Amino acid sequence: MFEPTVYKERRARLKQLLRGGVILLQGNNDVPMNYPANPYTFRQDSTFLYFTGVNTTGFALIMDLDTGEDSLYGYDLEVDDIIWMGELPGLKEWARVAGIQHTWPYNQLSTDLQSIQHSNRKIHFLNPYRSDLKIELSGMLGIDIDDLEQRASAELIKGIVALRSIKEDREIAEMEAALHTTKHIYLRVIKNTLPGVKEQILTGIAEGIAIENGGHLAYPAIISRDGEILHNHHHHHTLKDGDLVLADIGAEGPSGYASDITRTFPVSCCFSERQRAIYQIVLDAEMSCIEMLRPGITYLSVHLHAATIITEGLKELGIMRGDTDAAVKAGAHALFFPHGLGHMIGLDVHDMENLGEDYVGYSDSVQRSSQFGTAYLRLGRELEPGFVLTVEPGIYFIPALIDLWKKENKHSGFINYEMVDQWRSFGGVRIEDNVLITEDGHRVLGPAIPKTIEEIEALKTPPGRIS
Ligand code: GLY
Repeated sequence: MFEPTVYKERRARLKQLLRGGVILLQGNNDVPMNYPANPYTFRQDSTFLYFTGVNTTGFALIMDLDTGEDSLYGYDLEVDDIIWMGELPGLKEWARVAGIQHTWPYNQLSTDLQSIQHSNRKIHFLNPYRSDLKIELSGMLGIDIDDLEQRASAELIKGIVALRSIKEDREIAEMEAALHTTKHIYLRVIKNTLPGVKEQILTGIAEGIAIENGGHLAYPAIISRDGEILHNHHHHHTLKDGDLVLADIGAEGPSGYASDITRTFPVSCCFSERQRAIYQIVLDAEMSCIEMLRPGITYLSVHLHAATIITEGLKELGIMRGDTDAAVKAGAHALFFPHGLGHMIGLDVHDMENLGEDYVGYSDSVQRSSQFGTAYLRLGRELEPGFVLTVEPGIYFIPALIDLWKKENKHSGFINYEMVDQWRSFGGVRIEDNVLITEDGHRVLGPAIPKTIEEIEALKTPPGRIS
């Protein structure tokens, strides 16, 4: 939580970007896990958190663009709440945190919105991503649920994206604090990656350290020897010598800021020759892409640079062939690198993705590609100072995709399917860091987390768990 003036200033800047009417922002509610009184861990909506600092269930905000006044709607605790949950902050205290003068009971919100509608003033709202808020908004505004997306305010979305895309120094400090926690996670997870250990033990270590540090994981951990499954949330395997583990883990700090780091490491003391070969290509791609980062460059061009290095490396192994530029232009690399190079990160691990990926990641001059692989690139636009993004190239051998392309003889001028078959059980390698775009280049955020082959192997020697 920052000083109340921070939230006040952010709201003032947002109001300057819109032309009239009111802005409605809905905070998140507790979501029942298996019955209403047993909710999932509460996570506030990131836009609501950004503009208010209010980090509890059942609040909403109206910003009046014509009078400049802000009103916070919420609940005060009743004695029953205090008995079960203690003396938590109430409406007035949250209003102080947010720097807001006017407070109203939550059940006044619907009436106030209706009177705003009756006076023919525009209500700028976002399309909710949670069902309870969709139902509530639809009821309050008299708009069919299916029409909310189309009726959401593009002006508001663009204003929020413009502000949240440029990270303040205080936000960068929060992200670096989260990265410190993530480093602790990696040191413990890599040390504990041993033959006979179940992946779920490593997942427990990761979650435990995030919670120990006052936060959570920013997304469900991906820790698996099946590294070719891009978002693998199954952690049931028992690891054995020779396995390669891909871990994609990011702590979220107590203030809600995310980190997102990927490392790939062997279960044995050392990488095998094959693992080493693929790992080095991915590492070269990651480090070379990071070197390119500066204001003005498009992230699409950096993504294609990663594809070029990956294609060159796979050609040296005899897995790909032909002209590298032509292979990348045709999209042949996407058999092995079927995702985008990275995304914005901030309060959300995929920052602001709920507002619409293209609003965040593309611009009038850079449009999303429709080609398989590059189409998944979440961020393609020109980079600006203050952006924080992930750089996460990877190489994967995905048997289902290999079989499909081979059957279609797809890009066979560029792909040596006979050789690919010899690698089909390899798994996957991804390496990822979080990078700030500065005025004249970039800065990799957070403490260094072992990444080179030598650094990772050094962590595993002598073998043994640290508790
Ligand atoms: N680290 C998970 C993701 O970027 O989707």
